[in-house]
Amino acid sequence: MKEPDLTARLGPLTLKNPVLTASGTFGYGLELKDFCPPAALGAVIVKGLSLSPWPGNPGPRMFEVPGGLMNSIGLENMGVEAFVTRALPPLLAAGATVGVNILGRSPEEYGRLAARLAGTEAHFLEVNVSCPNVAKGGAAFGGDPRAVDEISRAVREMGGGKPFLVKLTPLVSDIAAVAAAAEGAGAAAVSLINTLPGLAVDLARRRPRLGGGLGGLSGPAVKPLALRQVWLCAQALKIPVVGLGGIMTAEDALEFILAGAEAVEVGTATLIDPRAPLTILEGLKDWLRREGLPNLGQIRGALRI
Ligand SMILES: Cc1cc2nc3c(=O)[nH]c(=O)nc-3n(C[C@H](O)[C@H](O)[C@H](O)COP(=O)(O)O)c2cc1C
Repeated sequence: MKEPDLTARLGPLTLKNPVLTASGTFGYGLELKDFCPPAALGAVIVKGLSLSPWPGNPGPRMFEVPGGLMNSIGLENMGVEAFVTRALPPLLAAGATVGVNILGRSPEEYGRLAARLAGTEAHFLEVNVSCPNVAKGGAAFGGDPRAVDEISRAVREMGGGKPFLVKLTPLVSDIAAVAAAAEGAGAAAVSLINTLPGLAVDLARRRPRLGGGLGGLSGPAVKPLALRQVWLCAQALKIPVVGLGGIMTAEDALEFILAGAEAVEVGTATLIDPRAPLTILEGLKDWLRREGLPNLGQIRGALRI
């Protein structure tokens, strides 16, 4: 039988397969190359980058909870300049399709990040709108369709035509409305979910488990919530949806595709097993062969509720 066709389309981008790395769990793309060669994946989405380097939060930064992981990295990163000059060239030379996750404190900062990346060979941007809107009391930009519209427009206008995904935060009452704002402002796709805000408590020490205090929950515990939001967005949008949140196996990835995802990202699973994205990709191929299906189009969005 012919090899299954796994190509995935995100607007103008055609990816060789639908398995991507989730930002913050695959470094700047090459750290795990001996376990998981970046060129084998649909794309590598790198750690979120800001205009200048950010030091991040004090430790401990991660704490395992039943069914998941709490983290409070505090968006530590090398800054866009160091990424463009030092980390991006070898990643591209390794044959990776590169998605650059960006984060800012204002729409203007997002625009400046997009402008800096516009002239590079990075393939697309992923705009993380889960950052606090400092000017408006610290609630995430991603909770407000108007803020998402403003940020997306800034990225489109400054990004020199580079395709961008908007990565949505799950803690909103109407995810489809936020996703529609991204779509209306020219996003090639939306990706969801980011981590869910949470708190892990150390009873003996009477303090939070994480040095940063509050944190974000990821892993299998968030999967049902992520699936619902991916399904809601897939129903409401014309642009593709990239699904993530608790994908540990190929079967998990297939559930997201059945719910309407064009592609998936693998996050926490990689922190347990650095080969996870590759294992999931192989699992997708095996599943298609077993089912006798030529591609994922046959099941994508086929879930009826
Ligand atoms: C340690 C860690 C760091 C993360 N850093 C980022 C980041 O820089 N930018 C971003 O958009 N998401 C970041 N995330 C969120 C993940 O990309 C992903 O959205 C989330 O973990 C849910 O997927 P998962 O359950 O497969 O991990 C981070 C998650 C973890 C666990």
